[in-house]
Amino acid sequence: MGGTLLDEDTETRIRTDVTIVVPTRNEADNVRPLVQRLRAVLGDTAFEVVFVDDSDDTTPEVIRDVMCDVDDERVRLLHRPRGEREGGLGGAVVAGIGAARAPWIIVMDGDLQHPPETLPAMIVRTGASVTGDDQEDTVEIRAGADAVIATRYAGKGRADGLGGAWRRLVSRASGIVAKLVFPRRLARVSDPMSGFFAVRREALTDAALRPIGYKILLEILVRARIGRIAEVPYTFLPREAGDSKASLREGLRFARHLAVLRLATVARPGSSIGRAVGFAAAGATGIVVNSVLLWALSRELALPYLVAAFLSMQGAIAWNFMIVDRFVMSGTERRLHRRLGRFWLINNSLVPVHLAVLAGLVQGLGTHLLVANVLAIGGVFVLRYAATSRWVYGQ
Ligand code: GDD
Ligand code: MN
Repeated sequence: MGGTLLDEDTETRIRTDVTIVVPTRNEADNVRPLVQRLRAVLGDTAFEVVFVDDSDDTTPEVIRDVMCDVDDERVRLLHRPRGEREGGLGGAVVAGIGAARAPWIIVMDGDLQHPPETLPAMIVRTGASVTGDDQEDTVEIRAGADAVIATRYAGKGRADGLGGAWRRLVSRASGIVAKLVFPRRLARVSDPMSGFFAVRREALTDAALRPIGYKILLEILVRARIGRIAEVPYTFLPREAGDSKASLREGLRFARHLAVLRLATVARPGSSIGRAVGFAAAGATGIVVNSVLLWALSRELALPYLVAAFLSMQGAIAWNFMIVDRFVMSGTERRLHRRLGRFWLINNSLVPVHLAVLAGLVQGLGTHLLVANVLAIGGVFVLRYAATSRWVYGQ
């Protein structure tokens, strides 16, 4: 990370309930009013603002001035010089999250399109901090949600400030695409493209965040351990100063980000789709083992084909168990010999089905033995998966 701003002493002296991470890139005219409005709206709340700045204009100087003027240590600056601006906007937010000291982190833009006046509602939702005496000020860990998303697309939320109809359409469409790609995870998220949200720092500790482009919230929702999600409607305001940095290139980055996230999480152990994919992959390697054995036993040893098919099935079942048990399934208390026993029983209970299909294909339709064998395996796959995940792993 770029560099640090406060010495250890200061870090331990200040108690902070909310860290507001603000990525900035050439926002010289916006940072001062932003800090003023934050202070006005947050009152006694123990907050800090971390600007993660990638500017080439005078923004860092303005931030330093603001730090002097307000005369407290609650405004911090992480300036990333040219050449060290890893990950652009997304990377800047990740750097800010890394520097955050509070148990709750709020991410918002530095251009006033995300109105600071929305913050109290978000903080109340998180239970992060209520102004008043020390007791109340303490972060309420029990307060339900792991994330609170400020949304333009629910309740009284509005996207007016996005500008032309085209940008609005693009924003809306990208949100819908993201929801189609991650239907379960984004089921209750009306604005997955939001750049304005609060998240419990704890939920991010083990997550390796590597956002590509702007969509840091999407990255967090997909990669981190986010349980309950709350939403707060807000109106996305028009930009008063400076320019949006969104572009066609950003759109392409978004497509790549979605693809990378989907691939990275499709076979994640623990997700049901991941298990099914892993199970199918293990089965695919099993088909190779099965076919080689069948070929060797029926050709080389000249065994009757049904006997050869039965024996190769045993070899493939043993092979599949090794792979599935080691790499695909997890989370059962059952001991190894019991898992193996059940796995073997269930898979063998389907062997008659397999052999019947095989005989039907070979004798009835004259299909080549190895081809028929693969078809039969495919036919019973669905049954095997359903039975194994239910009776061996209880999922
Ligand atoms: N540190 C850093 N580095 N900050 C950046 C960079 C960068 O490379 N690029 C942009 N920013 C800062 C801007 O200065 C601004 O504070 C904020 O990130 C958002 O950038 P804009 O260029 O103003 O984005 P936008 O208004 O088109 O879109 C924003 O709002 C949408 C609605 O919430 C983004 O946050 C979108 O992700 C979001 O969907
Ligand atoms: Mn903006």
